Amino acid sequence: MNLIFLGPPGAGKGTQAKKILDLLKVPQISTGEIFRAAVKAGTELGKKAKTYMDKGDLVPDEVVVGIVAERLTEPDCKNGFLLDGFPRTIPQADALGKVLTKRGNKLDHVICLEVPDGELMKRLTGRRVCKKCGEEYHVMFKAPAKAGVCNKCGGEVYQRSDDNEESIGRRLTEYHKQTKPLIAYYGERGLVRAIDGLGAFDEVFDRIKAALR
Ligand code: AP5
Ligand code: MG
Ligand code: ZN
Repeated sequence: MNLIFLGPPGAGKGTQAKKILDLLKVPQISTGEIFRAAVKAGTELGKKAKTYMDKGDLVPDEVVVGIVAERLTEPDCKNGFLLDGFPRTIPQADALGKVLTKRGNKLDHVICLEVPDGELMKRLTGRRVCKKCGEEYHVMFKAPAKAGVCNKCGGEVYQRSDDNEESIGRRLTEYHKQTKPLIAYYGERGLVRAIDGLGAFDEVFDRIKAALR
């Protein structure tokens, strides 16, 4: 199955993607996570991406598209993939379409997680992430059993450098300007599955599973 998870920052793309992976046995391809790994490794890509990410701006299309196109050629994508945070602009969506056509592939569903901006700000300022395995936490809604330590792997739980009010505001603006038009883009192609992203983690998960059936 070939899936896209679309939604504003903080909608729960990463959280729900990780839950669905066990079920679908396809890799989660998060462009945000690819960039954060590059930042951590101190590569040229990481240095470039960081200047955009910390401000809450989008990384330029030509950088992102090349990375995803290459990632999709890896063997674990043979039976499908889940794209988390890509595409985020119309040119990225066009480029993805071309890559898939070339592979003789097509998208099955575009899961659109809908959450109002006020709730997103609360979710993002309280978010914490495991440095080692990427598991997502929240200081109020999903705190680790032991403060600062990941339940799953024991790794250090930290706050992303772009999870401050200023960057979050900028990310929300960019979402509305550049990414939201993709809902109409994929709507025209009959691929959009709109999901109410408010409510308990498992409630949202059940809605996604129902939409995929
Ligand atoms: P990326 O890492 O993709 O960040 P984002 O889109 O801003 O999305 P988030 O990861 O912040 O939100 P999420 O939807 O995954 O929410 P989560 O599940 O964590 O991208 C980062 C940056 O990289 C971008 O700003 C850009 O610079 C660059 N970039 C990446 N892709 C790009 C692209 N294609 N083109 C250009 N640039 C790109 O949930 C958030 C919090 O809420 C968590 O704490 C979670 O525990 C909590 N939560 C989740 N669900 C619920 C619930 N139901 N109830 C209560 N709390 C909940
Ligand atoms: Mg995420
Ligand atoms: Zn962990």
